[in-house]
Amino acid sequence: MNFRNIITGLLLTPGFAAIAQYNTLRIPDTLSGTSFNLIVKDTFMQMRPGNVTITGGINTDYWGPTIFMQQGDTVHMNVRNLTNDTTTMHWHGMHLAAVMDGGPQQVIPPGTLWQPYWKVKNNAATYWYHPHLHGMTEEQMVKGIGGFIIIRDAAEAALALPRTYGVDDIPLALTSRRFDTANQFSYLPGPYGDYMVVNGTMNPKASLPKQLVRLRILNAEMERGYNLGFSDNRPFYVIANDGGLLNAPVSVTRMKLMVGERVEMLVNLSGDNIGDSLDLMAYNAGFPLGFPGGEPGTTGAFGSLLNNINFKLLHIDVAAATSAAVTVLPSTLVSNTYLTASDATVTRTLNVTEGTPGTPFHFDNTPFDLATINKTVNLNATEKWTVINNNVFGHSFHIHDVQFKIISRGTGAPAAYESGWKDSYYLERNDSVSFVARFDDYADALHPFMYHCHFAPHEDGGMMGQFVVKDAVAVAETSKHEVDFTISPNPAKTKIYISFPDPATKAYYVTITNAVGRTIVMLPRPRLTDGIDVSSFTRGVYYLRLIDEDTKSGVTRKFIVE
Ligand code: C2O
Ligand code: CU
Repeated sequence: MNFRNIITGLLLTPGFAAIAQYNTLRIPDTLSGTSFNLIVKDTFMQMRPGNVTITGGINTDYWGPTIFMQQGDTVHMNVRNLTNDTTTMHWHGMHLAAVMDGGPQQVIPPGTLWQPYWKVKNNAATYWYHPHLHGMTEEQMVKGIGGFIIIRDAAEAALALPRTYGVDDIPLALTSRRFDTANQFSYLPGPYGDYMVVNGTMNPKASLPKQLVRLRILNAEMERGYNLGFSDNRPFYVIANDGGLLNAPVSVTRMKLMVGERVEMLVNLSGDNIGDSLDLMAYNAGFPLGFPGGEPGTTGAFGSLLNNINFKLLHIDVAAATSAAVTVLPSTLVSNTYLTASDATVTRTLNVTEGTPGTPFHFDNTPFDLATINKTVNLNATEKWTVINNNVFGHSFHIHDVQFKIISRGTGAPAAYESGWKDSYYLERNDSVSFVARFDDYADALHPFMYHCHFAPHEDGGMMGQFVVKDAVAVAETSKHEVDFTISPNPAKTKIYISFPDPATKAYYVTITNAVGRTIVMLPRPRLTDGIDVSSFTRGVYYLRLIDEDTKSGVTRKFIVE
């Protein structure tokens, strides 16, 4: 028995019950700039005493780097899938073309490099990225694959807010895991973990400075909701929702955060003494049926050691203030022009309906089907969607492409802490929620966006739908051309260039497969003038398939790398 096991053994004996053994909170590494390399891999980690746990990570052994983006920049993502499974990488909350979105339609086979890019149009806020392969989302997310995206913009930069990452600006990805007897993550028999894992750390503690501290909290669970609060019931100040800063901080002592949602909050430690401690808590005791994680049992399909109790998320030790401490809560933040019900020209209703065994819930009695487009939205339309849940359980509703404004809840007015731009929300049992969104900038008749429940078992079970944004005024093509292109040089060594006999031809998608049919590179809407880098390809024969923007038809040509 090593020293750590002895300590753990002591701590578990009743006489030592009040002593907790904490581990220092991991702060994910950062990436910034405009080109981001993300290597998705199977790996392992010492989560707790005993066997190492097989995990998944991006550039690391659990979770992934926090990506900093600047509004207005065009960012290029190089996502290389080095796992043994097909995956996808979705940029949750991001407003971008559907073909770049990384939903279940943009599969990345093992070994393949996927290179989406987009201009960052979102507001400064906290976003995230995660796998989204249909039927496999829970399995891949349980391994720990995901990461934060933090967008900065001029309006946020002009405010006196804490923004020193890892010092007074702390990302917290909250999730829980269950371990099997071999110390491996298990997502069976049910979605609820027994132990908190925050940024990959179990029993985390952090030393935070004696000043205003910004916490960027993501509910990265499979299914559990969190009713956030502090152990001394001090108020905290919500400054941002999923898609941007609020007009002004909203003071609360509790707030619910459902799967996929993010909140940025300020907590004031300036009145605490150095060496004091407090806990960020989940006050999950006493919720009625329907709150995910409110179930009473500790075992069985919906049981867990964290069910229906109040439990610690992060132990905080108060440390000395930093030299550039922010100590004054801003009275106002930014001035948002929100959408209202009267802006909407189209209204839609979705009903949560009973599923079948193994696929517990659906929308409108229609299980998800990759081959079915469920809704068609016109480009630039402003729509009001109402999602009605007269079913037995709560859900987390999420829609891709847009940030919306919640305008009503059936159970009463939306909470002030959810009054900002949102892409996900808690849909309680016996509630209906209406939101208004504008679907601008990106039309694509072929690649849909998703709406779904963000509880991994529910989405994997088909509680999802697809919508396309269609450019209704697009002029019908009069002269549909034949797609034709040549590759040069061929044979090539470092780069290939594509040229079209018809200069009006635009590439919608390029994929390159090797001689045995493995997909090597996927390039949505590539800028072909830059050429395509083949310098890392081994010598041999390759096939380049090009899908044309207008006709969406494809042609394959062979080339050689020597
Ligand atoms: Cu965070 Cu469709 O997902
Ligand atoms: Cu659900």
